[in-house]
Amino acid sequence: QMNVHESEKIAGALKEFGYEETSCATEADCIVFNTCCIREGAEQKIFGNVGALKKLKQKNKNLIIAVVGCMTQQKSSAEELKRRFPWVDIIIGTFNSDIFSEYFKKALDSQKTFEVLDKEMEIIENTKFYRTSGYNAWVNIMYGCNNFCSYCIVPYVRGRERSRKSEDIISEVKGLIASGYKKITLLGQNVNSYGNDREEEISFAELCKKICALDGDFRLSFMTSHPKDFSDELIDVIASEKKMGKYVHLPVQSGNNEILNKMNRKYTIERYESIIEKLRAKIPNVVLTSDFIVGFPTETEQQFMDTYRLVERVRYNSIFAFIYSKRKGTVAEKMEGHIDLEIKRKRVNMLLDLQHKITAEKTEEFVGKTLEVIVTKEGNSNVGITESGLKIWLKSNSCELLTYHNVKVVTNNKNKLIGEIID
Ligand code: 5AD
Ligand code: SF4
Repeated sequence: QMNVHESEKIAGALKEFGYEETSCATEADCIVFNTCCIREGAEQKIFGNVGALKKLKQKNKNLIIAVVGCMTQQKSSAEELKRRFPWVDIIIGTFNSDIFSEYFKKALDSQKTFEVLDKEMEIIENTKFYRTSGYNAWVNIMYGCNNFCSYCIVPYVRGRERSRKSEDIISEVKGLIASGYKKITLLGQNVNSYGNDREEEISFAELCKKICALDGDFRLSFMTSHPKDFSDELIDVIASEKKMGKYVHLPVQSGNNEILNKMNRKYTIERYESIIEKLRAKIPNVVLTSDFIVGFPTETEQQFMDTYRLVERVRYNSIFAFIYSKRKGTVAEKMEGHIDLEIKRKRVNMLLDLQHKITAEKTEEFVGKTLEVIVTKEGNSNVGITESGLKIWLKSNSCELLTYHNVKVVTNNKNKLIGEIID
């Protein structure tokens, strides 16, 4: 989501230069790759995709190619890209992506840029975004991460935590509501530590409360939270504020305390499950999702089974499960006991199979129920989205978009809920 939103920022900058969106690469006069490096697979894809553009660049002399983002914030990857693909015009990292326009201006003058900074820049306000959804607006509340989970590259490529001022966030949100957005999603690597870097700032729960108090018919949600500092205050705000989406993505990563400790996650499974219990007690029907990493160095079969049993116990609405991927420069990279790929694959498939079964059972429970939704469009179909983010495909396209309705779920077609408007 963070990358999607940052792409909206770069698209916003290009729009200022008079560029329009196209879905066809051969028509484009500018192609920007906003890269990710969270796992090795993401990096490999970029090398393939940038490499494939050589012919287009030869054909279209006006074409400007830029590679930005997390992967190019790593000096070694940026240098490899430059060496292998000398036709790329702009290579920058995340620390200077706010001033993309300056580099773009130079590129229009046939000047190439290769600039990977060592230090984060000050936050720039009043950015113009080119938003891709007419319903949901992403709002960054903070940048960077201080947690240094031992497997994770993010703190190295996104820098230290920097929060925006709450008044700047609130004024952006006000503008978005006034222009018709019905859902606001606050973004940060760890929203619970919002404001910790600014003495005068309010807590994340208070920020949510202040936003909910704004006039307008909208819902508020956030991503991502860290269990180590998920406060009771925040649980209460989600429970009591009508405008808060009843949805929490709470990444746990592993169900075993020894592995959690090696991952530097700073909580135990007992503490994690107590948060889940409180959420469920105070917010009936709360939708819960999580992230998992399987095959972390030294993870035994028993330790993996602790993760498996956690998924059985919690019964999430859905999960993301990843095979551990070694990231250069992280603490886990240098640990002993890396696990064979075959074992990691077997474990991730076991976990995903279990979750598919749970998701199917949980989806089935919705048939016959009536839920309030806001109507949006996906492709050619109208879709109702509930307060907890669940999608219900509507039988008829007749009703107005961005209006609220009660929908009765009539069938479940392979985990796709189908419903009809009853009011
Ligand atoms: N290998 C596999 N998955 C990872 N994630 C972060 N770093 C790695 C890694 N090195 C996963 C975590 C995180 C999600 C965004 O990506 O589960 O929550
Ligand atoms: Fe990575 Fe941990 Fe920060 Fe999330 S909290 S971005 S997993 S270091």
